[in-house]
Amino acid sequence: MDDDRFRLLVQGVLDYGILMLDTGGRISTWNAGAERIKGYAAEEIIGRHFSVFYPAEDVAAGKPARELEVAVEQGRLEDEGWRVRKDGTRFWANVVITALYDEQGRLHGFGKVTRDVTERRTAELALRESEERFRLLVQSVQDYGIFMLDTGGHISSWNAGAERIKGYTADEIIGRHFSVFYPAEDVAAGKPAWELEVAVADGRLEDEGWRVRKDGTRFWANVVITALYDEQGRLHGFGKVTRDMTERRNAEQALRERRRLVGHLVEAQEVERRRIAWDVHDESIQSMVAVGMRLQLLASRLPEPHASAVSGLDESVAAAIARLRGLVSRLRPPELDRHGLVEAITAYTDDVAGRWGLAHEVRDELTAEPSPEAAITVYRICQEALSNVHKHARATRVAVTLSTVDNGILVRITDDGVGTAGEDAGAGHFGLVEMHERAEAAHGWLSVDSTPGEGTVVEFWLPLLPDATELEP
Ligand SMILES: Nc1ncnc2c1ncn2[C@@H]1O[C@H](COP(=O)(O)OP(=O)(O)OP(=O)(O)O)[C@@H](O)[C@H]1O
Ligand SMILES: [Mg+2]
Repeated sequence: MDDDRFRLLVQGVLDYGILMLDTGGRISTWNAGAERIKGYAAEEIIGRHFSVFYPAEDVAAGKPARELEVAVEQGRLEDEGWRVRKDGTRFWANVVITALYDEQGRLHGFGKVTRDVTERRTAELALRESEERFRLLVQSVQDYGIFMLDTGGHISSWNAGAERIKGYTADEIIGRHFSVFYPAEDVAAGKPAWELEVAVADGRLEDEGWRVRKDGTRFWANVVITALYDEQGRLHGFGKVTRDMTERRNAEQALRERRRLVGHLVEAQEVERRRIAWDVHDESIQSMVAVGMRLQLLASRLPEPHASAVSGLDESVAAAIARLRGLVSRLRPPELDRHGLVEAITAYTDDVAGRWGLAHEVRDELTAEPSPEAAITVYRICQEALSNVHKHARATRVAVTLSTVDNGILVRITDDGVGTAGEDAGAGHFGLVEMHERAEAAHGWLSVDSTPGEGTVVEFWLPLLPDATELEP
């Protein structure tokens, strides 16, 4: 490339200010980029000393002259810093000054290339600031222990949450190996090292288990370990986030325990009811039937008016027997044992809804028969739901639907009554509470959905195999 074309190229470049200084630092050439960045036209600036580009304090400190000295000593100087435009505003400049020599090796002047990197610097500052804010955030988080491990598993950072959960201050713990948080048996089994291996292999590891505080007490922790890589893809260390789940675990255990207890009570109640039903059936009813037969025999042998009196007695006995049969079937619906759930619910609904003057329907979409335990739970919940419809709904019709859903039985009792005033029924009302408890004790759920003036839907679901969900950690 000949000199003229090269000169034209340099002059036309807009992104870089490219200029030359004589040996004394006076500007001898100027290009379009320099004009764009610094605001001076060529005729305004050529011949002036390049220190006009420097802030007053740099000039006072002798910086321009020193930069030329360094460029002479080292051939080249690179600097980043504030420079001043013609209008007095500042910009963040990247500057390279190169010493230029002629063929005889004498210093001829300097080449100077300037870039305006204000935007880059602003972005870098913003990034640094956001990193700093993020670091402060992480440091002050209380609910999570957030800290870093080096590649060998030694703790390299610590936050307030980690201190709160584990009891160590940053001074005490930084530099120590993270296996101090593990119970002795886990350390003996090599669990800490194994967790880091998994984090490297899978990128991440999540674990729940016992960990040890500084004071030796244990807490139930949820731990996530993430492998951290640098830009070159080399393992840089690990991030570790720990939560103290002890309270949640205790609450869950208490809930499980309560469910177990309620389940047990409900079962005991059913056993007791069945026993009473059998006793009443086998003893009271049988002997009263015998009494009735004797009375009939006696009446057939006695003259009037004694015969009528005895027949009257027999009728009272028969009425008492009917009432006892009703009691027995309420205690232990015989259809449930003999004909199965749908039959029992249908018989019960026909009976009560008929008596209460409600249009009714039982729809059977079951494709699997529930276990006897599930059947009795369904039956009892339906009993209470129907009795609520009678007592509270002022409905004209009620529908019960049973279907098989998600390996369980879904039951829906729908009425067209006034709707509930909300589930919070207050003291002295146990029907809904008991329905919930029964469903949950059977590892299912129950919900009540009500629209004022349009009616109420009670819906519940129980697993078909109650034992399948019994798996406890
Ligand atoms: N199908 C329904 N339609 C309208 N209101 C209802 C219905 N079911 C329940 N409720 C309302 O919810 C309240 C709570 O019902 P819950 O069965 O818990 O108590 P209860 O029937 O009043 O008393 P208990 O069942 O203990 O004898 C009822 O008092 C009633 O106000
Ligand atoms: Mg009730």
